[in-house]
Amino acid sequence: MIKRIFDWLKQPLGLIAVGIAVLAVFSLAVYGLYTTQQAPAQPIQFPHQTHIAFGIQCLYCHPGAAKGPSAGIPSEAKCWGCHNQIQKTLDSQLPDTKVPLLKPLVASVQSQTPLQWVPVAIVPDFVQFNHRAHVAAGKNCEDCHGDMTRLTIAQNPQVMNMGWCLDCHVTTAGEDQVKLVKLTDCGTCHY
Ligand code: HEC
Ligand code: HEC
Ligand code: HEC
Ligand code: HEC
Ligand code: HEC
Repeated sequence: MIKRIFDWLKQPLGLIAVGIAVLAVFSLAVYGLYTTQQAPAQPIQFPHQTHIAFGIQCLYCHPGAAKGPSAGIPSEAKCWGCHNQIQKTLDSQLPDTKVPLLKPLVASVQSQTPLQWVPVAIVPDFVQFNHRAHVAAGKNCEDCHGDMTRLTIAQNPQVMNMGWCLDCHVTTAGEDQVKLVKLTDCGTCHY
């Protein structure tokens, strides 16, 4: 029986079947990987690229990045500061609205319930990451977050794991041994 299956597998038709099976497994694996790299569902399909194209600075919406550990996500009040003057936003209230994207923003402001943004760029609690130190050292947002001018919903350009931090720290230190020890010391990131 087994031998007959092997013989069949060696026939052209059998080889095609094997090919299809291999392809199916491969595409499943690729699809699995693809889904883990997708941006999560957000309360609003917030278009980064649209806002950046209007010349709004990253630090206007994420001012914490220059001042302290976390960059912060803008509150509805900050969105409203601009959007209450944008006709489109008011139009989103009309029954036949052409801008459904802005509906959740108006609803959130009116009901005073914050939008529940899903974190994208995140490291575990036992890791000490501070934006300020990196921005002060001259690192740009895109060095770590990729080109947000082309994105709608934020996505990580890479996995933010220990290897990723250390890679850049080792490069940063270069020949400077003192800096290398400091930037790769466990206690620098875990304490
Ligand atoms: C008009 C305000 C605004 C501007 C300008 C803006 N952002 Fe954002 N940003 C947001 C909002 C709202 C979110 C939450 C939605 C999301 O994750 O896409 C966010 C999310 C992010 C995130 C993911 C954070 C997380 O973990 O949830 C990163 C990274 C980010 N922005 C970087 C940038 C960079 C870099 C720039 C400049 C090139 C920029 N942003 C400009 C409003 C803004
Ligand atoms: C500094 C001003 C400013 C801030 C702050 C701001 N926006 Fe905007 N937003 C704009 C402008 C300008 C447009 C483009 C409007 C247009 O296309 O006519 C826009 C467009 C949008 C759109 C796309 C609408 C569409 O149908 O194309 C969404 C959604 C949106 N903003 C949501 C938000 C949210 C949510 C926040 C807060 C996290 C926010 N905005 C903060 C100025 C701002
Ligand atoms: C050296 C790499 C690096 C640089 C440079 C950097 N970030 Fe981040 N960013 C991170 C990491 C790592 C996290 C996750 C931090 C955490 O979970 O505590 C993060 C998180 C964020 C978040 C999520 C929410 C929060 O409050 O922290 C936003 C928004 C953000 N960064 C925006 C920016 C902006 C805007 C800039 C440029 C001014 C910037 N980042 C520069 C690495 C970086
Ligand atoms: C793109 C390069 C880059 C990446 C990625 C990066 N760092 Fe850094 N990091 C730097 C630079 C540059 C400095 C400043 C070095 C100096 O003192 O001159 C720094 C300094 C630090 C410091 C010391 C801060 C201080 O107060 O002196 C800590 C802690 C740190 N990084 C944590 C992290 C963690 C955690 C990650 C990953 C989640 C990370 N870094 C990813 C470039 C990077
Ligand atoms: C530049 C910052 C940095 C330095 C230095 C660093 N770590 Fe980490 N470490 C991280 C980050 C970020 C994570 C979380 C992401 C991950 O699991 O890779 C982490 C995760 C870990 C974990 C949990 C791993 C897991 O799979 O859950 C352990 C254990 C750890 N680090 C030990 C160490 C030890 C020991 C050292 C010193 C030899 C060290 N780390 C130095 C940034 C750093």
